[in-house]
Amino acid sequence: MFKITSKETLSAGVHLFKVKAAEIVKKHKAGQFVILRLHEKGERIPISVADVDHDTGELLLLVQEVGKTSEEMGTLREGDSLLDVVGPLGQPTQLPDNATTVCIGGGIGMAPIHCIAKALHKMGNKVISIVGSRTKELLTFQEELKAISDELIITTDDGSFGRKGFVTDALLALIEKGEKIDEVFAIGPVPMMRAVCRLTQGYGIRTTVSLNPIMVDGTGMCGACRVTIGGETKFVCVDGPEFDGHKVDFDELTKRLKMYIDQERISREKFVSEHPVTCGCEVKSGT
Ligand SMILES: Cc1cc2nc3c(=O)[nH]c(=O)nc-3n(C[C@H](O)[C@H](O)[C@H](O)COP(=O)(O)OP(=O)(O)OC[C@H]3O[C@@H](n4cnc5c(N)ncnc54)[C@H](O)[C@@H]3O)c2cc1C
Ligand code: FES
Repeated sequence: MFKITSKETLSAGVHLFKVKAAEIVKKHKAGQFVILRLHEKGERIPISVADVDHDTGELLLLVQEVGKTSEEMGTLREGDSLLDVVGPLGQPTQLPDNATTVCIGGGIGMAPIHCIAKALHKMGNKVISIVGSRTKELLTFQEELKAISDELIITTDDGSFGRKGFVTDALLALIEKGEKIDEVFAIGPVPMMRAVCRLTQGYGIRTTVSLNPIMVDGTGMCGACRVTIGGETKFVCVDGPEFDGHKVDFDELTKRLKMYIDQERISREKFVSEHPVTCGCEVKSGT
């Protein structure tokens, strides 16, 4: 069992958990993730490691409620436990040396991009962070990013905070300003990562994205997380999650993410009907 040592609800349906997992913390490197299961009847869901605390042996996980399991996780409280946490999984980020990097986090991608930005900063790279969300309330990890970035640019779609527009607008402005960018790292919703790749491809800027397909076993055996990279089949759980964004078949990834949409809806509806009070998207207080 893996104890939840703290839970903070940052915005509607978005929770930051600290989970005691000392062995995973010891081995974790930036870019890796865990697969967790809430209880014996629970499904396995992959979650990126947003940060680790080597002193306390805690993992930091930012979870957004999007369906049955993530909503069920949203009902857990400090002191509760997760049945399994498996990891660290996946390949660590390949960190450049002495480079100018731009780290882009969209939505809850702000958490895992923070972990990568921190490692890049530690290696002595120049780090420009761009984080974006629909609106001010959904911004997270700003203080943490500020501490390890040479520059932090915040965008909101509605202009409620920072620069109005998308992360790609801020990236384009940087490029047009003449910033010599060696590599871009992007984590967020698939359309955002795709838009970043389209932009950087035109300028020949190396771009690494962290993919989020449906996963089951996390060991390269089931094939659920299959993606096509430069015409070759790869398994995100063991070969990734990070890949050269200019080689990703985003159409296929988008299609495969929608494969079980009917089953996911039924499963969520069943959960909501069985947990009418605990489930939902209101910001929970007193967690
Ligand atoms: C390597 C990796 C790291 C991830 N890191 C995080 C993280 O740090 N925080 C976080 O909140 N989520 C993360 N995800 C996504 C998370 O695993 C899914 O949101 C979760 O499995 C959905 O389960 P569910 O039962 O709640 O929803 P489901 O009922 O399974 O799905 C509900 C909706 O979410 C979509 N969905 C399902 N699986 C995924 C997925 N893997 N990625 C994106 N959308 C999905 C479905 O298309 C559907 O529309 C990560 C995924 C991967 C592969
Ligand atoms: S999750 Fe099964 S092969 Fe990757």
